[in-house]
Amino acid sequence: MRPIRIALTKGRLEKDTIGLFEELGFDCSELHNKGRRLILSIKDQNIEVVLAKAADVITYIENGVCDIGVVGKDTIMEYGGSFFEVTDLGFGKCKFAVANKKDVDFYAGYAEKTIATKYPNVARSFFKAKGMDVRIVKIEGSVELAPLLNLADAIVDIVETGSTLKENGLVVIEDVAPISARLIVNTVSMKLYKNEIESLIEKIESAL
Ligand code: PRP
Repeated sequence: MRPIRIALTKGRLEKDTIGLFEELGFDCSELHNKGRRLILSIKDQNIEVVLAKAADVITYIENGVCDIGVVGKDTIMEYGGSFFEVTDLGFGKCKFAVANKKDVDFYAGYAEKTIATKYPNVARSFFKAKGMDVRIVKIEGSVELAPLLNLADAIVDIVETGSTLKENGLVVIEDVAPISARLIVNTVSMKLYKNEIESLIEKIESAL
């Protein structure tokens, strides 16, 4: 049988996921000594690991070129897609929040508000649910700059420790949603490799 292919979000989630695999006794030597290689084997488990940017993890799962993905709920909320979201891995914990400058009343006045964010879909649906029309400005880098430069009335962004906000004179005015890493599975793979995928999910869940 071909290996089960896991798309793993590079960076923080990568480290936590490798830690989880090691707890399960998987041989993660290739993952530790990857150099510039992007497809790595967990040889004793017949698993291949593909390292990818978060949004690409969803693309690979949706297109069926990877069977299982490890990705943040933030990415799932922003990009959506059709796949099974099977397990909350419990790590990679942070939240989406609305933040703005300290001492500024975001909800004052009737003028349309401008929101800067890396997550336009999350921001739009949050304010739509409140019945508020907002103008969204998509920012790629440090969103915290937008209110400081008076480009936006507030931001919708990821808050983990809160120190980026604090060091830039910003405060959370409302929580949007909690975030953590999730296991997602391609819908066809779930049928084709039912036994292998279910047993892997069971092992993973037993270690959480
Ligand atoms: C995220 C987010 C904030 C920061 C919050 O950016 O956009 O800037 O982390 O973390 P804190 O509450 O612990 O200060 P990240 O570092 O992931 O960089 P990015 O711009 O690549 O998303």
